[in-house]
Amino acid sequence: MRILLAAVFISILNQSAFSQTKSASKSYLEEAANLTREKSVLAAFAEIERLNPQTLQELIELNEIPAPPFKETNRGLAYKSMLEEAGGVKVWIDSVGNVLALRKGRTGKRLIALDGHLDTVFPEGTDVKVKLKGDTLFAPGIGDNTRGLMVVLTVLRAMEKASIETEDDVLFVATVGEEGNGDLRGVKHLLWEIRFQN
Ligand SMILES: *[C@@H]1O[C@H](CO)[C@@H](O)[C@H](O)[C@H]1NC(C)=O
Repeated sequence: MRILLAAVFISILNQSAFSQTKSASKSYLEEAANLTREKSVLAAFAEIERLNPQTLQELIELNEIPAPPFKETNRGLAYKSMLEEAGGVKVWIDSVGNVLALRKGRTGKRLIALDGHLDTVFPEGTDVKVKLKGDTLFAPGIGDNTRGLMVVLTVLRAMEKASIETEDDVLFVATVGEEGNGDLRGVKHLLWEIRFQN
């Protein structure tokens, strides 16, 4: 988990991470390992662990707001409030219903997006109530993809708390229409906007 999160941070922190080739993956991993020893990154990890009870609570809250394809609005609005509470970012909903939070970098020359999808594959009327059995949460969509939304949100919260500065702007996104007939329309719209508006 730590290495995975470090990989997320390195993607965010390192200008060159995205242009590296396969043969450079060893130094990429070394750099990720180095990052896990940085004070600010350690502070961010600690914040992620400190937040865990709240993260689990909000995971349940979000999961219990049904979001079948084309009906993501209510979940999107709840998620928007959570992003707004994270602070330090401009939050908005675009014309297709994607929820976006922009965290400015020092130069903002590039834009890096961290995305989770809002919708679930299950049809309207599916019981999405979360049940706890032992130490495990069970419900349709709780892993794929409500947990993904919590990862995006928690990375933002941790970066804010640890005052992590980036070179590039980072866009935290919850997209609509990933599943089935949704046909990735949220992500397609996002890429279109980035391509034509910047
Ligand atoms: C990782 O840290 C070590 C020790 O500071 C340094 O020598 C090395 O160059 C770093 N590696 C990368 C890829 O940044």
